[in-house]
Amino acid sequence: MQDNFKDKAHSWDNPDKILMTSKFSNQIANSIFLYKSDKLAEVGAGTGLVGLSLLDKVNKIYMVDNSPSMLSVLRGKLDTTSKDKVEIFEGEFKDSDIKDLDGVICFMSLHHIEDTRDFIKDVKLKTKKNGFLAIGDLEQEDGSFHEGQKVPHLGFNLDNLTSLLEEEGFIILRKKVYDNKSKNEKNYPIFIIIAQR
Ligand SMILES: C[S@@+](CC[C@H](N)C(=O)[O-])C[C@H]1O[C@@H](n2cnc3c(N)ncnc32)[C@H](O)[C@@H]1O
Repeated sequence: MQDNFKDKAHSWDNPDKILMTSKFSNQIANSIFLYKSDKLAEVGAGTGLVGLSLLDKVNKIYMVDNSPSMLSVLRGKLDTTSKDKVEIFEGEFKDSDIKDLDGVICFMSLHHIEDTRDFIKDVKLKTKKNGFLAIGDLEQEDGSFHEGQKVPHLGFNLDNLTSLLEEEGFIILRKKVYDNKSKNEKNYPIFIIIAQR
């Protein structure tokens, strides 16, 4: 499989990304009660900026990503403590046999996943009753965010994504635009949706 993040992985953890991911991690930490026994999955975990910042609040995080180069950066960050709490799955979430999760996190990665409904169905399959799905991503944009690179989704219409989650049986707990990413003199609103199974 093609590694779309091969050229970006080594310089991914820059101050801009660290700030952006920390804002999302804060949203999670302030809106979801995480238990020390929780087992979470982060889909599109990349170099682990979000997941690693939440690691001390939970029991385990499965970090799922289909980019070997992003995961290689993540592996390089793991120390003896985090190694015990992180399990890496290289590939598509649907192809993993991860199950009985308390929650799934997905930051800036859903727009890279082709079939959103299938992803939501898969989250439902792999989480426990009352488990959560927390998505952070771009609101619908004009295609300029990726500067010509083709991605499956140009952000998301929040109402459409909400309807999709509700159609698949999720209850929306929180939905808001909480950040603005500025890039090439444009502003891209970033939303969070927290839904419960
Ligand atoms: C924009 S990056 C975000 C990484 C990380 N969440 C962060 O904010 O630093 C998107 C990530 O999703 C991963 N990704 C894209 N499509 C994927 C898929 N179908 N399954 C799993 N991971 C995927 C990419 O390899 C990349 O690491």
